[in-house]
Amino acid sequence: MKFTLNGQEVDAQSATADTPLLYVLRNDMQLNGPKFGCGLGECGACAVLIDGKVARSCSVPLNAVAGKKVTTLEGLSPDASKAASTKALQDRAVLDVSAAKNDAPAASRTYTLHVVQQAFVDAQAAQCGYCTNGMVMALVALFNQQPKATDDEIKHALSGHLCRCGTHVEIMQAAARARE
Ligand code: FES
Repeated sequence: MKFTLNGQEVDAQSATADTPLLYVLRNDMQLNGPKFGCGLGECGACAVLIDGKVARSCSVPLNAVAGKKVTTLEGLSPDASKAASTKALQDRAVLDVSAAKNDAPAASRTYTLHVVQQAFVDAQAAQCGYCTNGMVMALVALFNQQPKATDDEIKHALSGHLCRCGTHVEIMQAAARARE
């Protein structure tokens, strides 16, 4: 099953057609940007972009993305288009905002964060960070369509993304920074 993953054509040969995309991304492609939360399409932790639209990868069978463009958190960085392969992106390691140190000097990083990722770091919007990646993907999809989305539209876009730490104020601050 061939599809484009973060700008590279990949062939998920070892997975069956009904394997959840999330499993393929995490287990076969070794990408841990999409998180396993509920596995039922209810928490948003596994969000990715499919042809630019946000989708819950735990609930998308592999055969549904044949020939499509899948973007994970790892593919958001402006550096992603320069990487020779998905493996090169994995080797860059910490594209995962939840794993990035809030106070790490930018000069020490070997990659450039997407503006939405950077906004989450700047607003210190992650506590445990497990929901963060899915929220970033939802906001990227929203701002690609509506760069000046209102607060209500942002809340609507994030409404299905569960955050149990409750950093909702900082999350909205991050979204506002990214919108600017
Ligand atoms: Fe996919 Fe929760 S893990 S929505």
